[in-house]
Amino acid sequence: MTKEVQIHDKHFSLFISEEEIFGVVKKMAKQLESDYQGKDILLIAILNGAFMFASDIIKSIKRDAEITFVKVSSYKGTQTTGRVDELIGLNNQMENRHVIVIEDIVDTGITIDKVISLIKANDPASVEVCTLLFKPEAFKGKHKPKYICFEIPNKFVVGYGLDYNELGRNLKELYQLKEA
Ligand code: IMP
Repeated sequence: MTKEVQIHDKHFSLFISEEEIFGVVKKMAKQLESDYQGKDILLIAILNGAFMFASDIIKSIKRDAEITFVKVSSYKGTQTTGRVDELIGLNNQMENRHVIVIEDIVDTGITIDKVISLIKANDPASVEVCTLLFKPEAFKGKHKPKYICFEIPNKFVVGYGLDYNELGRNLKELYQLKEA
């Protein structure tokens, strides 16, 4: 029988096991090691959702790699131009460095587009995105992530850092919303 969990009012069934996630994450770390050989890399993990993925990725990278954690904040500026975005906690020197953004999920792509333009303003040598999950059917952004662990259907998922109304982040596996 498929493992199920209830979070708040919703039921979810097991989607990707801990073993499968870890196998793919380890392969991804090897891919990054090989693609960035001899380069100075800075991993920027997006909080809150990417904390578990970022932890497993960094543990599997067997070379020097700096990592920092940032939060995306959107607030109403004083101008009439609408919303202003910022990355809270980003104080790292980026000139001549290769930035790898670590994301939990790229859904519509709106968040990652904002993050990339904020990072590019710091003049890094390059910026690429490494995401645990990518929903191709929902994506309408400008920057498709170069590094994707799992392409998934357009259904809500929780676990391994991802939440449903702030719960479910501590699950070691990924779970998918059950159809009603
Ligand atoms: P975006 O639509 O690509 O901008 O994604 C925005 C944010 O929505 C992601 O960083 C996640 O925090 C959240 N999100 C999107 N899809 C899911 C999901 O299936 N489960 C949990 N969070 C999600």
